[in-house]
Amino acid sequence: MKTRITELFGIEHPIIQGGMHYVGFAELAAAVSNAGGLGTITGLTQGTPEKLAKEIAKCREMTDKPICVNLTFLPTFEAPPYPEYIRAIIEGGVKIVETAGRSPEAYMPAMKEAGIKVIHKCTSVRHSLKAEKIGCDAVSVDGFECGGHPGEDDIPNMILLPRAAEELKIPFVASGGMADARSLVAALAMGADGMNMGTRFIATKEAPVHENVKQAIVAASELDTRLVMRGLRNTERVLTNPAVERILEIEREKGADIAIDDIRELVAGVYPKVMMEGDMDIGAWSCGMVAGLIHDVPTCKELVDRIMAEADQLIRARLSGMIAA
Ligand SMILES: Cc1cc2nc3c(=O)[nH]c(=O)nc-3n(C[C@H](O)[C@H](O)[C@H](O)COP(=O)(O)O)c2cc1C
Repeated sequence: MKTRITELFGIEHPIIQGGMHYVGFAELAAAVSNAGGLGTITGLTQGTPEKLAKEIAKCREMTDKPICVNLTFLPTFEAPPYPEYIRAIIEGGVKIVETAGRSPEAYMPAMKEAGIKVIHKCTSVRHSLKAEKIGCDAVSVDGFECGGHPGEDDIPNMILLPRAAEELKIPFVASGGMADARSLVAALAMGADGMNMGTRFIATKEAPVHENVKQAIVAASELDTRLVMRGLRNTERVLTNPAVERILEIEREKGADIAIDDIRELVAGVYPKVMMEGDMDIGAWSCGMVAGLIHDVPTCKELVDRIMAEADQLIRARLSGMIAA
């Protein structure tokens, strides 16, 4: 399939794996890229710019296809050394960066000078337009369904994607709730040039996370996610568990007076314990509503091939058949 996104990034299929904390390591990024999509190493997960450089080098050993690095701009007082992370990306020869969190404006000149294509993840049309204005090459439009941080506008993709299509000139991918060929074809119909998947790619053979995480996603239904940290304007969609229910209880008790310290032990430092040790109930970890559509743990290649084959069928048989009739 050829779209503006496959052309922009030099990939075979319009399928991107979004950056994921403690999931986006070389093994997964290489597997997605080798399957013809675009795999992403999560920059900050590596801990330091030096470790990111090593992870990029490791990934390069595993694939000669394009790869991406995610840079998440966190709402934190002690900002990570972003210019050094960017230097590691440039020196590692990576030509695609997925930015997220806050606007990447301050870092655009350095990335553009190095010939890097930037895809910024946005949860609203206004942020997408800002990304276009500051020179981003593409946008990942992340609907309310998404795992992770859906923003505070709560607009689902059925509305957000066509709205983005009405306003944007640069290409965009649909993100949030994407799992299969139906997602891809629907996203294309709504004006996107591809799709970005997070939760779906965790439940794959190559995702370097504990088996408990994959099985939790397969077992979960679309009813099993919750929104935490709403009162802090840092909303996160997570898989429910006793710790998450406790966060919600604290948030109800504290109301508008909630502070991060009230829930810190249930949200901070959770990822390595969940993703590496499989301690599923230790705290809150991101997961999309799309868990309800995930029923197996294929290899990335099996997943991508299946999506592309079924998309072909959907378009050629189901959709064009309806017109012919
Ligand atoms: C476990 C997990 C961790 C994530 N970590 C990050 C992150 O560190 N940075 C980021 O930009 N997005 C992060 N995301 C968001 C994904 O990149 C992607 O936008 C999102 O998962 C799309 O929604 P979906 O899960 O419905 O596919 C994370 C998502 C999950 C599920």
